[in-house]
Amino acid sequence: MKGIYLDHNATTPPHPAVVEEMRACLEQGWGNPSSIHAHGQTAKRILDLARHRVAALVGAEPEEILFTSGGTESDNQALRGGSILRPEGAILTSAIEHSAVLDTCKNLAAQGREVRILPVASNGILDFDALKAPSNGPVALVSLMLANNDLGTLQPVRETTEWAKTQGAIMHTDAVQAVGKIAVDVRELGVDLLSISAHKLYGPKGVGALFIRRGLQLPALLHGGPQERRLRAGTENLPGIAGFGKACELAKAHLERRSAHCRHLRDLLERGVLEGISGTRCNGDPKQRVPNTSNLSFEGLIAEDLLLNLDLDGISVSLGAACQSESRKPNPVLKALGQSDAEALSSLRLSMGEGNDEDDIRRTLEILKTTVSRLRQRIQS
Ligand SMILES: Cc1ncc(COP(=O)(O)O)c(C=O)c1O
Repeated sequence: MKGIYLDHNATTPPHPAVVEEMRACLEQGWGNPSSIHAHGQTAKRILDLARHRVAALVGAEPEEILFTSGGTESDNQALRGGSILRPEGAILTSAIEHSAVLDTCKNLAAQGREVRILPVASNGILDFDALKAPSNGPVALVSLMLANNDLGTLQPVRETTEWAKTQGAIMHTDAVQAVGKIAVDVRELGVDLLSISAHKLYGPKGVGALFIRRGLQLPALLHGGPQERRLRAGTENLPGIAGFGKACELAKAHLERRSAHCRHLRDLLERGVLEGISGTRCNGDPKQRVPNTSNLSFEGLIAEDLLLNLDLDGISVSLGAACQSESRKPNPVLKALGQSDAEALSSLRLSMGEGNDEDDIRRTLEILKTTVSRLRQRIQS
């Protein structure tokens, strides 16, 4: 029986058209985009096309797209570059950011930078009043994710940007879990910087982008060559970038169909769990969220036991961010929502994708029901 993959927030399987684009690039576009000869020009055309496709997905100009090695680098470039550009004032971020943002902020704090971590409400959405509370001084930069990776909750980025502008601050959003799932437009959001990662939208791993609003003179973090308008030296990961561009083109063309499909499956799953298994709860906000993510608590259980049992039955789910999954600590995002350790340890994240179907959800529900009741009986006996 085929396995059921319900962990699309960790990564997505590359789309066959993406694989084909990358293969064609490796075979025919292997030149160096910086070379003047014909091989170089072929490679340069691939690079330009990909930049156009990425820009089109988020409503940016191609010149505003910087290719990076993924979401983590984009976040680092935004925060480190932004903090160099604005050397005075605090950096504000939320308590439920991905570690690519939170750990970078901690590192900047260790270097003496003032960092303020803002709380979220129990539904996983930024406490807007805490953001606007009279601060101790100027604000240099605000970083607020568009969609949370564990809960799928959408954050008030547009409103936060409006406020950040009144403070003269640079506004960054980590949109890694939003791009490809909902319509994202950099002009509508008003942000200065926006992070994207290819492998969350059926593209390859190790490639991403940072949108940098035209006019913002972000300093380079990598030196050594003229690539990416001198912002990121080094010969480009052209096959990855080509695949990323194709993934963005597909995401734009199929956005509505993909989100309706995921929403339908997610609702089917949540109804089945909440109505069919006692002591279950949905975490996050039921409305303000991306369509593919469900974070569910199973009272009295350690979700890791559930995950391992589901894995034996061929169902892949997660406890939260893949890069945190070795820590065996309560999920920090759920702790930030005010949950106890026991509550936070009892939650599973299931994230659907375009390859899932109703049969996957029905089988997952069946196996979940029997596994939860077996684990609960074991605890009682
Ligand atoms: C919200 C968010 N930001 C950043 C990242 C890091 O992206 P990448 O894996 O491309 O470095 C992730 C990956 O899980 C994420 O979910």
